[in-house]
Amino acid sequence: MKGILLAGGRGTRLLPTTLAVSKQLLPVNDKPLVYFPLSVLMLAGITDILVITTPEDRPQLQRLLGDGSQLGLALSYAEQPEPNGIAEALVIGADHVGGEPVALVLGDNVFHGYSFQELLRQECRDVDGCVLFGYPVSDPHRYGIAEADADGRLLSVEEKPDHPRSNLAVVGLYLYDGDAVDIAKNLTPSARGELEISDVNRAYLERGKAKLVHLGRGFAWLDAGTPESLLQAGQYVQLLEQRQGVRIACLEEIALRMGYIDAETCHRLGAALGNSAYGQYVMSVAEQFGNR
Ligand code: G1P
Repeated sequence: MKGILLAGGRGTRLLPTTLAVSKQLLPVNDKPLVYFPLSVLMLAGITDILVITTPEDRPQLQRLLGDGSQLGLALSYAEQPEPNGIAEALVIGADHVGGEPVALVLGDNVFHGYSFQELLRQECRDVDGCVLFGYPVSDPHRYGIAEADADGRLLSVEEKPDHPRSNLAVVGLYLYDGDAVDIAKNLTPSARGELEISDVNRAYLERGKAKLVHLGRGFAWLDAGTPESLLQAGQYVQLLEQRQGVRIACLEEIALRMGYIDAETCHRLGAALGNSAYGQYVMSVAEQFGNR
């Protein structure tokens, strides 16, 4: 399965902070925001990933993540010059996807929950149609909203409705079969001039091929696109990391545990960051792993 990480947009809700720096590079406690969605793809077992950025932000994102080989990944880059909608990522990424199934993740989404990796691996297997993840929120008019029947099956998807039919937000992680690029290419832009991801999802729903997976209340899904939500995401991550002594979305640790890199490489990556608590943590993980 291929991966697309959409780290585009102007981050206008975070101005003036985002005047000179990409939203996805802002810190969530101890690491850049983009580590969180990237960690999701890595945990799903996806290593061939296209990162889509604005032309202005591309050099900084490339400086941070490189070609991914240090983490056992193959990262490539493409540009979305204008914020023409999330579904445009599938059009821009057409060659990268090459008719294969694809997982698309948004660069400002933070996911954390017990057994998330198992859930991801299970849902990424043999995707037939699309797989969407629903999460209850208190402010549904801000999101793509899914309506489900009593058995949890998807009935409708609407983008930022004035009168939401439910409180189930469709989170920024979408799993698609090989038809997604064609569907996206044939979309008509919405009233606000964007290729809406909810329209891709509705096309699958109309074919009877859209599955909704409910993320329960024990799960944390945060989008860090506003000053409040960015701070809240940082506070959430800080609290859990301090309490448990583990780090969330530590890419080096995930690469090691997934078998993308060995303990020696992991230790070297940690040593390069050794002046920070993050770097110390990466080294200690590598040492523990090496001693098993
Ligand atoms: C986008 C999608 C929306 C989805 C949300 C998740 O909205 O359009 O359907 O629920 O991401 O983060 P945006 O945050 O770009 O306004």
